[in-house]
Amino acid sequence: MFDLSNKTALVTGAGQNVGAGVARTLASQGAHVVVNDVAASRAAIVADEIAAADGSAEPLPFDVTDGDAVREAIAGRAIDILVNNAGNAGAEAMAVKPFAQTEPSDWVGPLAVNLEGVMNCTHAVLPGMIEQGWGRIIGVVSGAGTVGVNIGVAAYSAGKGGAAGLLRSVALEVAPTGVTVNSIALGLMSNTAGGDITEQLARAIPTRRLGTPEDAAALCAYLASEEASWMTAQTIPLAGGAITS
Ligand SMILES: NC(=O)c1ccc[n+]([C@@H]2O[C@H](COP(=O)([O-])OP(=O)(O)OC[C@H]3O[C@@H](n4cnc5c(N)ncnc54)[C@H](O)[C@@H]3O)[C@@H](O)[C@H]2O)c1
Repeated sequence: MFDLSNKTALVTGAGQNVGAGVARTLASQGAHVVVNDVAASRAAIVADEIAAADGSAEPLPFDVTDGDAVREAIAGRAIDILVNNAGNAGAEAMAVKPFAQTEPSDWVGPLAVNLEGVMNCTHAVLPGMIEQGWGRIIGVVSGAGTVGVNIGVAAYSAGKGGAAGLLRSVALEVAPTGVTVNSIALGLMSNTAGGDITEQLARAIPTRRLGTPEDAAALCAYLASEEASWMTAQTIPLAGGAITS
């Protein structure tokens, strides 16, 4: 099951953590993986690691927030599977503070990478998927964007919630074409552990553990597969029981 042989998968922001795990898993299921990251060296390292493990991968660095760069990078490539993973605050650190204390300039990065980046990449691959009558688009979103969180990341929530809504509507538009579109709403992942707030949140996770890249990657492998052809327009929580709606 979940054989991805003869498929090409583009994973954005795959230079570390969740995206790198998704790239490794899709490659292990047989896909040729195009490893994107805005940090070219990270993309190259992950692609090399996959190749060293007998997988098929190539780096393709670009900034998902730059629409022209996205179109140029993807032009002429047949992408069967897109995982919109690039996120957080983009290349910068997240400004963590209550919304009332933010400036409009604080919203730009989170909205650009978490919403516009998803629009740019999805828009670039969709015509080719529709034409070939098969495609899989996956958004890596967050409980911050579905149920909300009280940790000072409201603009990030807006970006993630926007991406989830965008992808659900796109899913319905293309549902008859053989292209499925879903999102996974992650809870707190292990690479974010640290600091008072995250440790407090980790204790509240029903499974009592943080998520791993492999947890996210396994769901992506399913969503990318032939077997998932009747699963579309969903935002699926993956959070150790911490997100129940
Ligand atoms: N870590 C968590 O606890 C958590 C929770 C919920 C959702 N998520 C989401 O999961 C995804 C992966 O999270 P992570 O913790 O692995 O992130 P991370 O910050 O560790 O890695 C993200 C990668 O994306 C790259 N990137 C950033 N901006 C980019 C851009 N504009 N274009 C291309 N690449 C870009 C970065 O260079 C980095 O390598 C993100 O979308 C994040 O919002 C994470």
